[in-house]
Amino acid sequence: MNKVESNSKGAVKAKSGAAENLRSLFEDQIKDIYWAEKALTKAIPDLIENATAEDLKGALSGHLSETQKQVLRLEQVFEKLGLKVEAKKCEAMAGILKEAESIIEETEIGHVRDAGIIAAAQKVEHYEIASYGTLLAFAKTLGASEVEDLLLATLNEEKNANAKLSEIAEATVNEEASEENHSVKKHK
Ligand SMILES: [Fe+2]
Ligand SMILES: [Fe+2]
Repeated sequence: MNKVESNSKGAVKAKSGAAENLRSLFEDQIKDIYWAEKALTKAIPDLIENATAEDLKGALSGHLSETQKQVLRLEQVFEKLGLKVEAKKCEAMAGILKEAESIIEETEIGHVRDAGIIAAAQKVEHYEIASYGTLLAFAKTLGASEVEDLLLATLNEEKNANAKLSEIAEATVNEEASEENHSVKKHK
């Protein structure tokens, strides 16, 4: 006899106040990314301090000021949608930032830590690209054309930030980090 056990709990019962329509889901997701952007304005300075490659420090500093503007841009989004400005804890971003902290603690300062910082920062950018991509698609479906330009402007900044990090990793940091590994081995 086949004993097939399932761990599935089935469909989850919604909490009270759960989003009933796409518009409420859209609004919830804006509060989520607002929390995430604000958390990033506090976390990026730490990444900058721990980075050593000048181009990496520069890219992170540039994106920090963009992020500060993105927070203000989201406040405009709330305003245009007639909502009060509100943040809702983004567990995903909190997790990515916690992981970034561990990467820093678990690497020696220098090329290897730089490579780790890029890895963490790119996870952040990918999360943001997914979030703003979804928000933009929701805005289009909902006919919220008044916020499309704002969301698109940020989406493009996130994509550029991600591309710049890839460029830095591929041009120098990864290679230097791998050489660091060789020299460690040599000294053993
Ligand atoms: Fe952002
Ligand atoms: Fe970003």
